[in-house]
Amino acid sequence: MDERRRNSENPRRTTRSGSSDDSVNFRRTRSSQSSANSRHTRSSESSETQRRQIRNSEGSRSSRHSGSTRRDTAEIRRREIMTPEDLLDDDEEYIRRRQERMRRRRLEKERQQKRRRMMRYAAMAAMLVLVISLAAFGISRLFPDSKESGSSQVTEEVKAETGTQVTTALSQPVMGASDIAKFSEQTTLSGWQSDSSGIWYKNADGTFYQNGWQEIDGNQYYFNENGYVMTGWQIIDGEDCYFDENGKYDSQRVKPMIALTFDDGPGQYTEELLNCLEENNGKATFFMLGQNAEQYPDVVKRMKDMGMELANHTYDHQILTSLSNDQIANEINKTTSIIEKAAGASPTAMRPPGGAYNGTVQSISNLPIIIWSIDTKDWKTKSEEQTYQCVMDNAQDGSVVLMHDIHEWSVKAAIRMIPELTAKGFKLVTVEELAQAKGVTLENGKAYYYFGEGTQQVE
Ligand code: NI
Repeated sequence: MDERRRNSENPRRTTRSGSSDDSVNFRRTRSSQSSANSRHTRSSESSETQRRQIRNSEGSRSSRHSGSTRRDTAEIRRREIMTPEDLLDDDEEYIRRRQERMRRRRLEKERQQKRRRMMRYAAMAAMLVLVISLAAFGISRLFPDSKESGSSQVTEEVKAETGTQVTTALSQPVMGASDIAKFSEQTTLSGWQSDSSGIWYKNADGTFYQNGWQEIDGNQYYFNENGYVMTGWQIIDGEDCYFDENGKYDSQRVKPMIALTFDDGPGQYTEELLNCLEENNGKATFFMLGQNAEQYPDVVKRMKDMGMELANHTYDHQILTSLSNDQIANEINKTTSIIEKAAGASPTAMRPPGGAYNGTVQSISNLPIIIWSIDTKDWKTKSEEQTYQCVMDNAQDGSVVLMHDIHEWSVKAAIRMIPELTAKGFKLVTVEELAQAKGVTLENGKAYYYFGEGTQQVE
């Protein structure tokens, strides 16, 4: 029974140990067992007991020998009586187990090594991913910066070349001079700067221009009290100056000018009209009747003080072409005296009532004769709207506009058009100023209608 168990056990174990050495041992064990078992039955029983002990211990060699001295002695005695075949069988069993254990350990070690290797690879891969992502992040952070500074430099170079080119890259909300000063400290580049308030210039030393003219790269600029360049039409030192959108002064550009003229006054509405002209920095020419100037000497004086042109329109609106030479002279000279008395200045032009003049009138007047190019016919329409619209539709550079400041609707129309004409870019001037601006030297006795290019006659 024992034999069977042992024999049935052996092939199973051998099969489990796949080593070629074990196979050799097994074959040797099988062949020796068959002869030994038949000859030594008694000793075979004791050896079986020994084998059970070994099997039970299942451990290392040390555990097998860790028994008491008595047991060791018994074993030595037992070994003495064991046949060489038994000893061989026993040792082979032990070697086989040890090899099996070693094999398992080796396999376990290999598995561990494999695990470690895998972990190392995983760690390396993680590190690689981290490094790549960090590098990508670093590049992405570095690139916009370098791009930004690069474009700023390019813009600065362009600005330096053109002189007037401005960049929006440095745009910052700057509200006043103190803010500009602050911003000036923050920027590293000098030259033209722009922000929501306008265009300004930063010098290399961090300062900026303010309050006055400045020549930069051969062009003239005017900086306001906050350090921004002025643009569009501006009145500087009493002169109309035009600056383009970058603040560059254009000395060739002259405002379109028109001369508003008011006849038959002064009247009760004339002061209101003067107020409006004053508010809009506009000038006009007043062809006054002597009889009305007598009534409003203060208004005449105010006209003079305001820089309006004082002009003669006869004493009581006589049609001069139907008068004698003495009558013509009297109409004119009497009125001139009244104006001189009121304003302390002589009239510089005359307009015959109805625009009617002839050679006799021209020779007697002693003043330039000024007619008109735009007749509003306000005395006829009695319409503020039509008077206003007539001027707004027809006004152009050099126009001489005819209105009457003795009519309320005419003064209302004038008060409406004056700020709008100014906003449209027209400069409201006196006839004398208009002629001078257009290079026309006004001559006494000569009649003038229009001072622009070409001809204009609006009836
Ligand atoms: Ni008149």
